[in-house]
Amino acid sequence: MKALEWMGDSLKILDQTRLPVEIKYRMAATYEEVAEAIEKMEVRGAPAIGAAAAYGYALGAIGYSGELADLPAHMEKVQHRLAETRPTAVNLFWALRRMEDRLRDQHEAKELAEIRQALVAEAENIAEDDRRVNRLIGEHGNAIVTAEANILTHCNAGALATVEYGTALGVIRAAQQAGKKVHVYAGETRPFLQGARLTALELMNDHIPVTLIADNMAGFLMQQGNIDLVIVGADRIAANGDTANKIGTYSLAVLAHAHGIPFYVAAPTSTIDLKVPSGQDIPIEERNPKELREVFGVQVAPPEVPVYNPAFDVTPAKLITGIITEKGIVTSPYSVNLLKMMVRS
Ligand code: MRU
Repeated sequence: MKALEWMGDSLKILDQTRLPVEIKYRMAATYEEVAEAIEKMEVRGAPAIGAAAAYGYALGAIGYSGELADLPAHMEKVQHRLAETRPTAVNLFWALRRMEDRLRDQHEAKELAEIRQALVAEAENIAEDDRRVNRLIGEHGNAIVTAEANILTHCNAGALATVEYGTALGVIRAAQQAGKKVHVYAGETRPFLQGARLTALELMNDHIPVTLIADNMAGFLMQQGNIDLVIVGADRIAANGDTANKIGTYSLAVLAHAHGIPFYVAAPTSTIDLKVPSGQDIPIEERNPKELREVFGVQVAPPEVPVYNPAFDVTPAKLITGIITEKGIVTSPYSVNLLKMMVRS
């Protein structure tokens, strides 16, 4: 199961809102369709959102039939539409910036076809980089997994959240491939249930032992001594190491700290946003109240009850044991060590 696949003139998107009940794809042939798929979370997970947006940008040029001179104005509109889909995962803006730079490189091109080709090639590069980077995160992360480990994860930071392999689940895959005896506790991740619907499915498909728990069971499991390690993904990491990830991550970090359990974040360097000094400055998406009042169309609360539905929270750097990236594992002091790593090639 691939989250997304370039088909030459359209983007094949696995509709993750339907999983695990149904395997359904959307063939996005326009940038608007890609934007819609990101908004509706048919494609989700920071790296997958970035790659999908890059292909969406390329589709914006493929669908353009006006004058060459007016292309930059059109592409600005395309970029704006894709950028407004989801605010927290910085990979979206990082990928769009890469595409914008590639377009700018083409200013001497005489044919639209030439520009389209360059933009598709750049989207392919972004996707290929993600495949490579996730494997490296897995290799580095394997070092922190003991020979036998019960690992708690949250949301879905796996193959379904990336182009391939995954970040947090990439580390778990690499540990299993290295012969370690890993067992995963997947938190169900209310309200969108990425843990129950996606992580459970992905790990079962790969024959990685997994047990599903409700989010509010994590503390009890830790108290019982059943968790050796927590590994989660990230949507945006600030310059000081504060990390935005799926709502509920912060609670797990506090619990892990209280129980002396290592808490790791696994993410590509494209998730690190040095322009944002601390977690306070990370925009947090708020989603539709319906996601809480209903569970997939079935009413579970009074229809008029006021709802607060932030999609992400911020884990302070001081609760994070280490950040696993494709360049290695960064530890505290993050303000110094993240910057050092980012300037290293
Ligand atoms: O709202 P989602 O499903 O896009 O949120 C996903 C997460 O929070 C993931 O943990 C994060 O994007 C990392 S994915 C490798």
